[in-house]
Amino acid sequence: MKIKIAVLSGDGIGPEIVAQAQKVIDAIAYKFNHKIEYTPALIGGVAIDETGSAYPENTHNICMNSDAVLFGAIGDPKYDNNPLAKVRPEQGLLQMRKKLGLYANIRPVTTFDSLLDKSPLRKEVVEGANFIVVRELTGGIYFGEKGRSEDMQKAFDICSYSTHEVERILKLAFSYAKNRKGHLTVVDKANVLATSRLWREKAQDMAKNYNDVEVDYMFVDNAAMQIIQNPKKFDVIVTENMFGDIISDEASVITGSLGLLPSASIGIHTSVFEPIHGSYPQAAGKDIANPLATILSAAMLFDSLSLLNEAQTIRDAVDKSIIKGVVTEDISNEDFRFTN
Ligand code: IPM
Ligand code: MG
Repeated sequence: MKIKIAVLSGDGIGPEIVAQAQKVIDAIAYKFNHKIEYTPALIGGVAIDETGSAYPENTHNICMNSDAVLFGAIGDPKYDNNPLAKVRPEQGLLQMRKKLGLYANIRPVTTFDSLLDKSPLRKEVVEGANFIVVRELTGGIYFGEKGRSEDMQKAFDICSYSTHEVERILKLAFSYAKNRKGHLTVVDKANVLATSRLWREKAQDMAKNYNDVEVDYMFVDNAAMQIIQNPKKFDVIVTENMFGDIISDEASVITGSLGLLPSASIGIHTSVFEPIHGSYPQAAGKDIANPLATILSAAMLFDSLSLLNEAQTIRDAVDKSIIKGVVTEDISNEDFRFTN
């Protein structure tokens, strides 16, 4: 099969982790006889430096004309401490999500047996934990009206959701739950927020059509606690944009390293595959960044093209490399490193 992949490496460690994932994709293409056509494109800080825009039109066109987008990371410290910067690297990611219609971000949290002692949680708490976070990605407070009052003494970010936005993400989450262990947790703050009440109302309506899915509802503060206390109780979590951002970072450390979690952003146009971590500028160029989250994102890319053997081959190779200790320093264990 011929596969056209847009390569958006971005900032910080983005280029080096994406380069490793491309090597894996090339090896898979060789083994399974596919032809990969990569088209690199700019996004984030590097795009601002070169074009003035964080998500240039040309990049958008390249994404639209590809079968999938492989994304690295964006963000540069020179913008983080400058609240007055007019254009920021993160806007590139947000614009890409909006323009490609990527309303769902799928973040699987899986544990690796050989890494259980890297988790900050006790082994018996994490062993076997396996759930996915389905994060709404193009609505909520991220995309609501925002601004500053004229006298600059107030700022606001509006959180709003339409029934259409809520229903389409819930529908997807229900179908994931149906195909997994049949358990869906709707995470919201319905005791305080009107948008959360809309989510809960729609989820309750929809649950009637999914008798085979057990649904429970959890406030986000409680969910934050339970993910740490008993991660094994979750199967599919669905939640709005900002809650999803926060709890998926929280969930990622259960596995032992933020450097291990992949994600897929799916929706209306081309899907995007990216690690959930950021651009880790302190590590850029040092060859220490963990590429596994990006490599596992490439596995999700093959899944999305229904190339399931290809995807599984990548996952098996990642498992083997971890067991052999061919790993970066965040998950290395000097005792068994490179001994096999
Ligand atoms: C993520 C990131 C982004 C987000 C940032 C970089 C804008 O944290 O993909 O989780 O908040 O969505
Ligand atoms: Mg995040």
